[in-house]
Amino acid sequence: MKLLVTGGAGFIGSNFIRYFLGAYPDAEILNFDKLTYAGNLQNLEDIDALPNYRFVRGDICDAEAVERDLGEPFDAVVHFAAESHVDRSIAGAREFIRTNVEGTLVMLEAARKRKVPRFLHVSTDEVYGSMAPKESATEQSPLAPNSPYAASKAAADLLVRSYVQTHKFPAVITRCTNNYGPYQFPEKLIPLMISNAFESKKLPVYGDGLNERDWIFVEDHCRALDAVLQKGRVGEIYNIGSGRPVPNIGIVRSLLKLLDKPDGLIEFVQDRPGHDRRYALDDSKIRHELGWEPKVDLDAGLEHTVDWYRKHIDWVHAATSGEYQAYYEKFYVKRRATLAEL
Ligand code: NAD
Ligand code: DAU
Repeated sequence: MKLLVTGGAGFIGSNFIRYFLGAYPDAEILNFDKLTYAGNLQNLEDIDALPNYRFVRGDICDAEAVERDLGEPFDAVVHFAAESHVDRSIAGAREFIRTNVEGTLVMLEAARKRKVPRFLHVSTDEVYGSMAPKESATEQSPLAPNSPYAASKAAADLLVRSYVQTHKFPAVITRCTNNYGPYQFPEKLIPLMISNAFESKKLPVYGDGLNERDWIFVEDHCRALDAVLQKGRVGEIYNIGSGRPVPNIGIVRSLLKLLDKPDGLIEFVQDRPGHDRRYALDDSKIRHELGWEPKVDLDAGLEHTVDWYRKHIDWVHAATSGEYQAYYEKFYVKRRATLAEL
């Protein structure tokens, strides 16, 4: 299989590329990524020299560049590229509409023109909005996004749906819950808490800490995407989750325990505006239809994650200091040029 992956230098995209090339060593991947603050090529240092992996720096909103890079035949597009952080969408929504909505439109148009036989659109459970206690969203639940980020993802999902209906476009949509694991940028809850705790800094918990999220280990999400890519039905939506929403404060306390740091580091801070109280999904469709289920339970996944961050303290420092942003110009371009000369 030859894939065009957008946003492959981010958290889930880089984990997906590593997973996919490990599972299918004959596969080919072109990673198309703008390298925004969230894109980090250090996430893929171990993959970069593989002959069946290529990176191209580009913006999904740039129709000309996207159409040029889709010039060769691909079996599928796996579309991760997005602005992904809710707090940033509250500070400013414009970039979210540009990348998540307009960028998705560019990708859809280019893939349609090139007749790419499959388009996997990676979306989120946030499009369903907040769930009442014991309630969970099915794929038929109404869209009720509450943050500009979630609204931009819901808009993109609707565009994908319209292409399926209008153009018989071969797209599938996935909606996953909160991911965690290696290479997650330390602005999201789990890596932020780990990196702050390393330095014995305060851990800012929004509101009363009782908002619930259904955490899934990133590799379980990657396996689900693989299942949907290979066997998902065109035009369908597949929810992906672990089925166990947990309050944020529970996650933070578990992390402190694993890190052997005191609960006194916890600081309750002002709540996020429009903060969704609870996310929960009914993901029985993917489990029954495609035979997927998560393999990593939360305790084991958190332990593995803390261990990974401990062993990759240089990655954490580069990410928190901003050094990683110089990596592309300083090392990557030079290394590629040297390789090309050899
Ligand atoms: P991320 O922020 O870590 O990575 C996003 C990547 O997209 C970065 O590499 C960035 O450089 C790239 N990008 C951003 N704008 C771009 C543009 N205009 N052109 C090309 N590339 C661009 O995000 P993530 O957490 O890995 O999420 C990936 C996808 O999965 C997103 O679509 C997100 O909505 C979805 N999702 C995330 C989660 C989660 O818990 N993180 C859960 C469900 C769904
Ligand atoms: O549900 C899937 C979504 O999960 C993805 O679509 C998003 O891309 C991803 O960012 C994530 O969104 P959340 O807003 O749920 O993730 P975040 O890590 O920002 O926050 C998780 C919870 O922790 C949320 O209830 C807010 C809270 N939080 C977060 C931060 C950063 C805190 O209490 N303190 C913090 O400092």
